[in-house]
Amino acid sequence: MSNQPREQWGSRVGFLFAAIGSAIGLGNIWRFPGEAYNNGGGAFLLPYLIALLTAGLPLLILEYTVGRRYRKSPPAAFRQLTKPAQAIGWWQVFICFVIASYYAVIVAWAVRYTFFSVDRAWGEDPAGFFAGDFLQSSDPGAGISSYVGGVFWPLLFVWAVVLVILGLGVRKGIEKANIFFIPLLVLFFVVLVVRAVTLDGAAKGLDALFTPDWGALTDGSVWVAAYGQIFFSLSIGFGIMVTYASYLRRKSDLTGSALVAGFANSSFEILAGIGVFATLGFMAQASGVGVNEVAESGVGLAFIAFPTVISQMPLGGLFGVLFFLSLAIAGLTSLVSIVEVVISSVRDRTGMRRGPAVAIVGGLVAVASLAVFPTNAGLNILDACDHFINQYGIVLAALAFLIVVGWVLRKLKPLQANADATSAVRLGLWWRICLGVVTPLVLAWMMVDSLRQEFSENYGGMPTSFLIWSGWGIAGGALILGVLVALIPWRNGPEPEDPVDEEVAEPAVESGKEER
Ligand code: PFF
Repeated sequence: MSNQPREQWGSRVGFLFAAIGSAIGLGNIWRFPGEAYNNGGGAFLLPYLIALLTAGLPLLILEYTVGRRYRKSPPAAFRQLTKPAQAIGWWQVFICFVIASYYAVIVAWAVRYTFFSVDRAWGEDPAGFFAGDFLQSSDPGAGISSYVGGVFWPLLFVWAVVLVILGLGVRKGIEKANIFFIPLLVLFFVVLVVRAVTLDGAAKGLDALFTPDWGALTDGSVWVAAYGQIFFSLSIGFGIMVTYASYLRRKSDLTGSALVAGFANSSFEILAGIGVFATLGFMAQASGVGVNEVAESGVGLAFIAFPTVISQMPLGGLFGVLFFLSLAIAGLTSLVSIVEVVISSVRDRTGMRRGPAVAIVGGLVAVASLAVFPTNAGLNILDACDHFINQYGIVLAALAFLIVVGWVLRKLKPLQANADATSAVRLGLWWRICLGVVTPLVLAWMMVDSLRQEFSENYGGMPTSFLIWSGWGIAGGALILGVLVALIPWRNGPEPEDPVDEEVAEPAVESGKEER
């Protein structure tokens, strides 16, 4: 273990911007609107809010507390709770590795589409252009046979930016980048939304999004969707928040920060829902169809539906540039946070300095990403990886963590005391009930629900042979690798097991300068 002092955020605002930058990502812009629309419209806001209060915020606070308490990234922090728990940390590290490798590609597409917007390069057929001309995508199962330069170069650019930001460190890189990008993102987005709601047909779109279908509330899958959205959207279960909180000062407020980050994220999400559905309403009106016929989410929304709208609307080019830039910025700040988990974990384990760690570890993620995704099979691999690693990686790792902390070690009480000692808002029994009972039950239920679907039909109609390696293989591989790395003995790692019970309130060693 190195004796370099741990890096620290320059200010509370810096930490908040970074946490919000991580949370606000593609999930907010293209996932939330579709989830809300498909799961009861306006009525979805109720399970969504309940999920935020009973699982999202409590878990966010727990991750902040563990990170700040142990001042380490997930493997080393969990190891201090109990040695075997470091396997969960490494599992998360491999999950982050995989997610980073494909998430970067989407950011790269957004960068490319920012330029395509200027002259509407997709022409008359945005769908054909995206999968054909641009991605040169082939059928799943066709194997990797060609390389796509048009994706490779923007991807290389994205990785260069990410690695430079990470190379500059927590304060000069991550914090500064977020303080710059997040206000810019909000500005772009507000302009976009104002434009969208003043389009013809906007009201039709908003009606479609917000008209409540109260009957949906009795459908279990709507609740699963709400919890799933909250987990993904707040970036919890990835190890990101543990890592970011490990750079906090010892006395920093935790619960207040979690509330700010959580509500900022949800506000942005709802804003995005309004912008997206107002735009879809315009599109439906312009083509004389119902909003249900144009409602899309994910890749199809951003790279097919939006280009279609951009071609139809007055000043569409400008709208397109703002939209794709927003997507790229939102994605970039999330990408930075997820790669930092991998880098920080390896540093905590090996004592490597930031520079070499960014070059070697960050470089490795970049190389994997550049090797696999700018190919004819890239789109399909991305789709399968994304589905499986989220359903059977993030969700399961979060469940394992809660079972270990809440049930096996029974550490929720001392962790609560640790958070309370420095926070403006005090936690109560409700916090422990949410984490000890509600969240694990919901996560387990989500698991069963998605397994049931998995076995009833192949995800995305893809061939089983393809899903075995690109889906199950990658998700299972992350777990196996996590356990294997955890088995390597630590020679001079951090002092093992350090029961949090013994030290409730931290000695106040608050001195930014000397600790830096
Ligand atoms: N909260 C992020 C989002 O909404 O997109 C989740 C995330 C995904 C964070 C991928 C980081 C990441 F690389």
